[in-house]
Amino acid sequence: MPRFDVTIAGELNLDLILYGLPEQLPPERELLASGVMLTLGSSSAIVAHNLAALGSRVGFQSRIGDDPLGQIALDRLKQGNVDVSLVRRVAGASTTGLTVILHHEAWRNILTYSGTIAELTWDDLDLDYLADSRHFHFSSYYLQRGLRPRVSELFQKMKARGLTISLDTNDDPDDRWEGDLHELLGHVDVFLPNEREARKAAGTDDLEAAIRKLSGLVPLVVVKLGRKGALAQRGAARVVSPSREVVVVDTVGAGDSFDAGFLHEYVRGSDLATCLASGNRAGALSTTRPGGTEAFREAAHRQEFFRQRGI
Ligand SMILES: Nc1ncnc2c1ncn2[C@@H]1O[C@H](COP(=O)(O)OP(=O)(O)OP(=O)(O)O)[C@@H](O)[C@H]1O
Ligand SMILES: [Mg+2]
Repeated sequence: MPRFDVTIAGELNLDLILYGLPEQLPPERELLASGVMLTLGSSSAIVAHNLAALGSRVGFQSRIGDDPLGQIALDRLKQGNVDVSLVRRVAGASTTGLTVILHHEAWRNILTYSGTIAELTWDDLDLDYLADSRHFHFSSYYLQRGLRPRVSELFQKMKARGLTISLDTNDDPDDRWEGDLHELLGHVDVFLPNEREARKAAGTDDLEAAIRKLSGLVPLVVVKLGRKGALAQRGAARVVSPSREVVVVDTVGAGDSFDAGFLHEYVRGSDLATCLASGNRAGALSTTRPGGTEAFREAAHRQEFFRQRGI
């Protein structure tokens, strides 16, 4: 039996979220926020944290700087029962990355300093550690610039060791969605884009055409549809699952939490409807507290949320 259910190689950093800012942000003015939250950020780390909170055994590799923000992020994962024994702390010119989120009523600004996010490379990875798992997950393909040229090779190595593989690219900050993604998708078992990312990755504005194209490349395409829930396409078969009713604090990390909920069931061999329902309830839970992991940190809050909804 492998040591882990899921291993992840990826970014580890904090999110600084400001709430209650004015809708307009004129330059050179002092603008007041009504609330602030410093919390675990980064797609890879949120997926790892929330998978462990749901009860999966998770191993996580990353590179952080030798600085207090990196330490806080690392401590959060450790407290969440994620194995971080091989996370590398590297003192150098770059410090640990940071994302600042300006939260408005209907939209948000997401500002990222990449720092060590872009500097994780092949040489930081221990392939035996990552392969000692049932499943390998990869997030934020376009932010992980140091690793990106060898992600295809990494997937092939994990596949050769018998792991299944999932990918959530998240957004491409350059909005180029280059063709190497299609080659990469050839090694992926589960692709987890949101609606916009599915269209961008397929190179079409039509969601149905995008799903058709992507499902020709990947055995299982799972599209996150925000408050509409999610759908899964496996060959010709389609399973649709509605979202959970919820009072939203913010949707930061909802997609990553969905990934955690979905994968938690997927690695146990559950059917698609169960995987999607688990993804939707994890996504909904994540919106009940600030950031991507606050709602998962406290077992009592998590259990009460699931109990009230009869899950
Ligand atoms: N308003 C909402 N109400 C209920 N559930 C929601 C809501 N917004 C998101 N979710 C849940 O979270 C999941 C992921 O949301 P979304 O489609 O926004 O992902 P995403 O764009 O990848 O998010 P992220 O910004 O974290 O990358 C949805 O599929 C749904 O299950
Ligand atoms: Mg996402």
